[in-house]
Amino acid sequence: MLKQSLSTAGISHTDIILQAGEQTKSLSHLERVIDALLDQKIERGTSLIALGGGVIGDLTGFTAAITLRGIDFIQIPTTLLSQVDSSVGGKTGINTRFGKNLIGSFYQPRMVLADITSLESLPPREMLAGYAEVVKYGLINDEPLFDWLENNGHAICCGDLALRQSAVLTSCRAKAAIVSEDEREGGVRALLNLGHTFGHAIEASKNYKGILHGEAISVGMNIASAISADQGYLTHDEYCNIEDMLLNMQMPTMIPKKITSASIMKHIGHDKKKISGKNRFILLDKIGNAFINDKLDNKYLKEISKNFIR
Ligand SMILES: NC(=O)c1ccc[n+]([C@@H]2O[C@H](COP(=O)([O-])OP(=O)(O)OC[C@H]3O[C@@H](n4cnc5c(N)ncnc54)[C@H](O)[C@@H]3O)[C@@H](O)[C@H]2O)c1
Ligand SMILES: [Zn+2]
Repeated sequence: MLKQSLSTAGISHTDIILQAGEQTKSLSHLERVIDALLDQKIERGTSLIALGGGVIGDLTGFTAAITLRGIDFIQIPTTLLSQVDSSVGGKTGINTRFGKNLIGSFYQPRMVLADITSLESLPPREMLAGYAEVVKYGLINDEPLFDWLENNGHAICCGDLALRQSAVLTSCRAKAAIVSEDEREGGVRALLNLGHTFGHAIEASKNYKGILHGEAISVGMNIASAISADQGYLTHDEYCNIEDMLLNMQMPTMIPKKITSASIMKHIGHDKKKISGKNRFILLDKIGNAFINDKLDNKYLKEISKNFIR
């Protein structure tokens, strides 16, 4: 359909099809895509269109950032996660054997075009994984959004188009507002990492297999909320509210079996958010207000993680 529309509009185009999966965000695929583009004799005025999920968006964005020293690109995200999160904000990149997203750049797309009807073919598990990032915006700075999601989460995930559109719009606005204040994550953008310290450690402990990013983030948000309550920032009732909302949507709240607290701590040790070796954690002091905390030591985090291993 995209190709047809481009042809109808008289825009010449060609496509490069890439395999689904995280392994596509690699140096070898980057090289393959750049070779294909140069082989087509692209010019500075050529634009790339990323049609797909976050994997395609991140790889295409990074390709656009470095090919011919930078060409325009457009995001057309087709997963809920990419519509509400990865297509907005300009983080682009690929993975290395040392970890995820370790090569990349901040490079903004010229346009993000999220067509929510493209989500109709998305498997429910992928839908729920994207939904975790929507919940995150509510927890970070939008309590009314959290309340609205408590009532409408099922309908959003089951395909109510009006509600889904509203969820995507609200999420994009929330992310755009934060990123325009702090594009390079010097301050407030770090709040978007709520749930991501434990989340990334869980993904890495499973070698990025058998768990989706949003599933790991759901567990991470539950743990961050539990820590917030344990540290006295969040009331116990509010924590229960958050856990109930995740459970009610059948989103994961516990670290998967076979992951050890030692493995979690090893990966938390590699967290990109660390500053001068200190853990930087995003906590909540209420539903709808996140803040950065650097006072949690490894011993405490290890004990907490044990409580969340099945
Ligand atoms: N740049 C950022 O700010 C940012 C933020 C969050 C996540 N990410 C990155 O995004 C990636 C995850 O993105 P994702 O969850 O979209 O995963 P993905 O791109 O791997 O897509 C998930 C699966 O859905 C399939 N798919 C895509 N659109 C579909 C559709 N409309 N119908 C049916 N199937 C469809 C894909 O082929 C794939 O199998 C990770 O690499 C993560 O690091 C980037
Ligand atoms: Zn995320």
